Amino acid sequence: MRTQIGIIGGGPSGLCLARLLSLRGIRSVILERHTRDYVQARIRAGILEQGMVNLLRNAKVSDRMDREGLVHDGIVLTFAGRQERIDLAALTGGQRVMVYGQTELTKDLYDAVLSDDNVAVVFEARDVSPAGFLDGTPRLDYGKDGRLEHVDCDYIAGCDGYHGASRASVPKAMITEYERTYPFGWLGLLSDTPPVHDELVYANHQRGFALCSMRSRARSRYYIQVGLDEQVGAWPDSRFFDEIRRRLPDDVAASMITGPSIEKSIAPLRSFVAEPMRFGRLFLVGDAAHIVPPTGAKGLNLAASDVHYLSTALVAFYGERRTDLLDRYSATALRRIWAAVRFSWWFTSISHKFNDDPIEHKIQLAELDYLMSSTAGRTTIAENYVGLPFEPTFA
Ligand code: APR
Ligand code: PHB
Repeated sequence: MRTQIGIIGGGPSGLCLARLLSLRGIRSVILERHTRDYVQARIRAGILEQGMVNLLRNAKVSDRMDREGLVHDGIVLTFAGRQERIDLAALTGGQRVMVYGQTELTKDLYDAVLSDDNVAVVFEARDVSPAGFLDGTPRLDYGKDGRLEHVDCDYIAGCDGYHGASRASVPKAMITEYERTYPFGWLGLLSDTPPVHDELVYANHQRGFALCSMRSRARSRYYIQVGLDEQVGAWPDSRFFDEIRRRLPDDVAASMITGPSIEKSIAPLRSFVAEPMRFGRLFLVGDAAHIVPPTGAKGLNLAASDVHYLSTALVAFYGERRTDLLDRYSATALRRIWAAVRFSWWFTSISHKFNDDPIEHKIQLAELDYLMSSTAGRTTIAENYVGLPFEPTFA
């Protein structure tokens, strides 16, 4: 098989990239390890920045998101019995975020690419292996239905997530990896109950962090910080809800409607960046190159900015034979990535319990108190939360 862009991974990054390229007449093949049902069933993020919303509109996959997504103008921070609203829209000249689950977005993207003549998707592609990208003969080898197959292409996009094959195929000496792990994880619970509040609530509490999020007006997503040694089985729904209520202000806790969980899982927190993001004719995109702790809701949105930079560069290459944007892809994407890595790390550091030393909590409370008392403090949270611009105008 021959195509223009060989894409490894049919998650949000690979699907968005294929779709944006197709609209400019550029053909691609997506090799996805799992089935469509498996990919769509994964419960992941749910907050889209304005920049990502715009990208999805440009990709013509936004109809259902624009109908069913919830636009949020603010978030609430709680600490020391206080409830402080950050007015995102007022502090950022009218920018907002959209609540729309990655699960729903992935369905919309598959509906679009599977009826798109410029995109071929191979599900259950085994042992995908990128080759030749350093010597100008890029190809993807893989197994399908017991046979060895390959795709020859002009460029490879590694959109295969943190555990994928693309980053792993780069010679170690060419790549630098930066990593921080955190001494806790998030236990998440999804339930078909109305959200406790009409905006997201981020709670700093002596017992640990908690977050009240949502997927719709009828579906809640709740998280609590837990130790890395915790097992989901030790957290029946009643224990989860008791614990999250203890971490919330009394009136919020009292109004929480609980119901049976439809999903419950623990995720560790990690900051990770691989540099650079281009190796000859291989580009890394999304989680394949970086991971952030979920506190700032940045993971999915960073995938969107990578896709924006790479699709723009590929369109310039095929349309005008320009290679300068491809040459700048890594540096441009990494600048925004590091900004989000910093924000996600910082937002984690002021909201989570790192140890039992009471001075740590007192210092967090003093920092939150200061931030809330200052328009500059509130603005720095708001600007980062709604997302820094895709174009690096924050110089
Ligand atoms: N071969 C083929 N496909 C692979 C391979 C492989 N060796 N390894 C992984 N994949 C597939 C996975 O099955 C998955 O569908 O690549 C896809 C990667 O998708 P994600 O992990 O969702 O990564 P990405 O598309 O970059 O999405 C951005 O940011 O913070 C997160 O929640 C956010 O998952 C979202 C991600
Ligand atoms: C989510 O709804 O899954 C979610 C929302 C906000 C975050 C993290 C996760 O900061």
